[in-house]
Amino acid sequence: MPGRPIGVFDSGLGGLTVLRALIDLLPDERIVYFGDTGRFPYGPKPRDEVLKYSLEITDVLLGYDMKTLVVACNSAAAAALPVLDAQLDIPVLGVIEPGLRAAIKTTRTGRVGVIGTVGTIASGAYQEVAAESDADIELTCAACPGFVEFVEAGDVDSDQVHVLAERLLAPVRDADVDTLVLGCTHYPLLARTIGDVMGRDVVLVSSADETAFAVRSMLEDAGLLTREPARGTQGARGTQGVQGAPPESRDLRHVFLTSGPVDTFRTLGVRFLGPEVESVTAHEW
Ligand code: DGL
Repeated sequence: MPGRPIGVFDSGLGGLTVLRALIDLLPDERIVYFGDTGRFPYGPKPRDEVLKYSLEITDVLLGYDMKTLVVACNSAAAAALPVLDAQLDIPVLGVIEPGLRAAIKTTRTGRVGVIGTVGTIASGAYQEVAAESDADIELTCAACPGFVEFVEAGDVDSDQVHVLAERLLAPVRDADVDTLVLGCTHYPLLARTIGDVMGRDVVLVSSADETAFAVRSMLEDAGLLTREPARGTQGARGTQGVQGAPPESRDLRHVFLTSGPVDTFRTLGVRFLGPEVESVTAHEW
């Protein structure tokens, strides 16, 4: 059971920022990552459509015999996490609760901001998690349409992105938050610009690390943590590989699937994650 892979998915490449934290914390785990780059982005799409996509991807990952599912996309977690959690008999975790929990631990004034895609913010998912927690916090949420597009274009600190950030971050700045949750997989890459606009006193919280810690606790509690040391060179390659993986990637620790162009995924994937992006397999819907 513990030798089975962790399934992780995102609308595209952004979830690889979460995967980086997961691999760093749990280097012995095998991972199957699905990036739905062919149907990216999820942020502006209606909730029902994102839910449908999330269920379809989950079916694919179940074919790899995953032992747990990590929804490494805020927009997908906002749309689908409760449904996935109710339907699956394996543990399921998203990025929303870990990110907000980290912000609650961090804030001193109780004034917390959350920024995300239009879909994430409109879903009210962060507000719901905040309401369910006992924490006495005042939450201010702001959608940031356009941020993802700038990151995808490789522009993270131009004058244009700065001007957009000044405008979109005005609500959280006006609310005088002392902690800001980067509620979108792409926003950590804009941290410098966001930090400049918010000011040095505001702590930026990325959910990637917190999610990785939450996955470790969840696997530990469920007795699913892989305890054997990684095989192969520095854990980058294992000798057992991911069950269910296509033959060409069976000897690799991690498997990457994309619904878009494989070459683009590989090239940009290395930028988001690093050298672990070895074998990328195309998935056609
Ligand atoms: N991965 C998405 C998220 O975290 C951002 C990109 C998209 O809009 O699909 O919300």
